[in-house]
Amino acid sequence: MRIQDKVVVITGGASGLGLATAHYLVEEKAAFVAIFDLNVEAGEAAVARIGADRAIYVQTDVSDEASVQHAVDTVMARFGAIHVCINGAAVPTGFKILGKEGKAAPLARFAQATAINLNGVFNVMSKCVEQMTRNDAEAGEERGVVINVSSGAAYEGQVGQCAYSATKAGVIGMNMPAARELGAVGVRVNAIAPGLFLTTMVAGLEEKILDSLKEQMEAPKRLGDTREFAHCCAFLIENAYINGETIRLDGATRMRAR
Ligand SMILES: NC(=O)c1ccc[n+]([C@@H]2O[C@H](COP(=O)([O-])OP(=O)(O)OC[C@H]3O[C@@H](n4cnc5c(N)ncnc54)[C@H](O)[C@@H]3O)[C@@H](O)[C@H]2O)c1
Repeated sequence: MRIQDKVVVITGGASGLGLATAHYLVEEKAAFVAIFDLNVEAGEAAVARIGADRAIYVQTDVSDEASVQHAVDTVMARFGAIHVCINGAAVPTGFKILGKEGKAAPLARFAQATAINLNGVFNVMSKCVEQMTRNDAEAGEERGVVINVSSGAAYEGQVGQCAYSATKAGVIGMNMPAARELGAVGVRVNAIAPGLFLTTMVAGLEEKILDSLKEQMEAPKRLGDTREFAHCCAFLIENAYINGETIRLDGATRMRAR
């Protein structure tokens, strides 16, 4: 799909990988972007930097059905269509199955991760796809593109990532059935499983943990650049034959257990 003048919804677009992608798609590819994010201050600041002629922010909780429906309706009212949906909103949620005194972790902590990182992806994807079906089919076949953000933790989750890894593996699990079902309406669905990129989510980790992570980077021996993630999104939008795929964007890094 050609990106120029297409409307791209980006959840988690007020920060990190989503924000870099919003900038890239507007500045390099002349897209329109709609940022769905909880963080009002960061969302409004993003629109101010990108330019209100091509970007809007809608305060959205991806885990809430009414909130997402309102956000989708707002984009339709402003831009009249949704062509691409990039699901990046997530919370890192690190905790062990057994706490300090061997006490089982409260189920609510696990449920919070699934509500945002997994249910949230389905919630936004499904409502955006409903709108994509109204688009004219580009080159006779394409009405929309979905990119769901997973993580290397879906494959090699570290100690304490049980909930996070389960949600990110769930995102990969959705990929193929979604691609198979939505092919019939001209929508492709792919996922990206990033390794370590320097964003707020990662910068917020304890220094000790961050140092151990950096030391595990493989080739190239550095954290990912957020523009490399954005470039991967552009590739997935533009290449009409890639579907049902998960791209590991991690410089060959495989995390150790700790
Ligand atoms: N940064 C990395 O190294 C890395 C590695 C692997 C996977 N990922 C994945 O990439 C995606 C983006 O990560 P990031 O590092 O840019 O994170 P980030 O923390 O910089 O951005 C996440 C954004 O999601 C928003 N958000 C959180 N909960 C929300 C909710 N309920 N509704 C709407 N918005 C919500 C936050 O406000 C924030 O702006 C996430 O899915 C993350 O799991 C990141």
